[in-house]
Amino acid sequence: MYNPENSQTNYISPRTNNRILPVVYLKVIPRQTSGVYTQTLRLQDYPGGAHRLQEMALGGEVFQTLLYTPVSFFMTHFGNYGQDRLATYVLNGAFRFLLAWTRLQLKTGPPNFLAQQHLAFHRQTEAPTSVSAGLPLQSNPCADRRHAEIWPPSSLCDQDLLPSVLIGGPQKTGTTALLTFMAAHPDLVANHIRSQGTFEEPQFFSNNQIYAKGVAWYFDQFPRTPEELDRLHKFPGERQLIRFEKSATYFDSLLAPDRVLALLSSRAKLIFLLKDPLERAYSWYQHQRSHRDEAALRFTFAEVLRASSLEQAASLVRQQLLASADTTNSSSTLAAHLLALNRRCLRPGHYALFLEQWLLRFPPYQILLLDADQLVSAPAVLMDRVQEFLNVGSYVNYSSLLQFDKRKRFFCLSGGPHPAAGRLLHWDRESGLWCLSRGKGRSYPPLVPSEENRHIFRKPMQELYQLLLQRQFWRPRNSSSVLDIIPSWLQRWIHSVPT
Ligand code: A3P
Repeated sequence: MYNPENSQTNYISPRTNNRILPVVYLKVIPRQTSGVYTQTLRLQDYPGGAHRLQEMALGGEVFQTLLYTPVSFFMTHFGNYGQDRLATYVLNGAFRFLLAWTRLQLKTGPPNFLAQQHLAFHRQTEAPTSVSAGLPLQSNPCADRRHAEIWPPSSLCDQDLLPSVLIGGPQKTGTTALLTFMAAHPDLVANHIRSQGTFEEPQFFSNNQIYAKGVAWYFDQFPRTPEELDRLHKFPGERQLIRFEKSATYFDSLLAPDRVLALLSSRAKLIFLLKDPLERAYSWYQHQRSHRDEAALRFTFAEVLRASSLEQAASLVRQQLLASADTTNSSSTLAAHLLALNRRCLRPGHYALFLEQWLLRFPPYQILLLDADQLVSAPAVLMDRVQEFLNVGSYVNYSSLLQFDKRKRFFCLSGGPHPAAGRLLHWDRESGLWCLSRGKGRSYPPLVPSEENRHIFRKPMQELYQLLLQRQFWRPRNSSSVLDIIPSWLQRWIHSVPT
């Protein structure tokens, strides 16, 4: 039913906020859930009594749904279930009530017309940067028996294949090191470490194109057959395996929290690493330089930090092109590029802002915050925290598994080969240790930030500190103070700031 009068009306409840799903030539129309379930019952046999049905039509839920929803689609069993006359009775009552008590005029049309109206309405109301990015949320097909039965690869539901733990980032905080250290644990199973466009990361929840591949694709990212697990030295049956994946792009994605919640439920455990945001930005800048990014190669880190608006970026570009007498480059393209680099350096460092997004969907005690500096200086202590958080069945002594490699200048894995060997870990012939590749733990001059640079993250640092004190993020059993989860770099910074 199309109600042209109320297309500007606010929705009364989420149930009227259904969306249409256009799939190439097909439009999947959301069915209205009005709360009435009629069957081939007699009126007097309706659960709760005939008056309940009458109330719904005469001013109650069905009437209100019609009144407040721009386009409603009701499904009745009229045509099939041997004349479901209660549906006609309810809708008829609601229409009569609507005509008697409002000045709305009713209009009807074929399904395609109604679908067009619905689509046109939602096009008007949805901003192009809609949080859903136009893609429906995907839930776990195995969570409902009826869905699992009709889902084509239904055999996938025989095992609990979805991850229960995510390392969510942010980028350049040591996420790859954490992934390889965790994957070395006998109870923990990481996603397939494949060489694909996104390297070892599935990025399912943050990348629209990947999300559109669907849940079956995501299931496929995890080893499941005994042979696959055997290759990883994990033995199903003997122990409770915990699946996890790492995608550093989840942390600052505004799409990821809802999507993770829809598929993995609020029971999912989340791990985020926190690094001094300026150091993180510098590491990203160096990362881009080594990938020959033009803006990163042409501008110093301090200049990139200054390019926080298109005007500033354009002015920096003009100065530089003038100084180098370069006429081959388009200054507007380079300025846009420089601004984009500035954003990628600074945006993820607004830790409190993004943590708040996750906290809207997940309880704080499901979130483990780790100090990225501790991952570098004392990774075994950090891994003990991870083991406790995940409640693993067997304890691994990481103090002997992780050893400092003098050439790499980072901790590396002993023993092995390890599950990530060949893709992420390389054997250091001299030390006999398995270290991350050259792209992780790069050599570059240390950051010497100016006061002005430090000032950029002053407010975000204060906000993070407050958030960590206020919310009950997960803490180890022996922790007696909330300060235990404040990263060392943040504690130092707080003590150095004049109050
Ligand atoms: P740099 O290369 O700038 O030093 P991510 O994996 O999230 O992209 O993070 C990369 C960063 O991990 C590296 O940044 C490095 O500082 C840090 N890291 C922490 N532990 C490491 C380890 N054991 N080996 C290599 N890099 C490590």
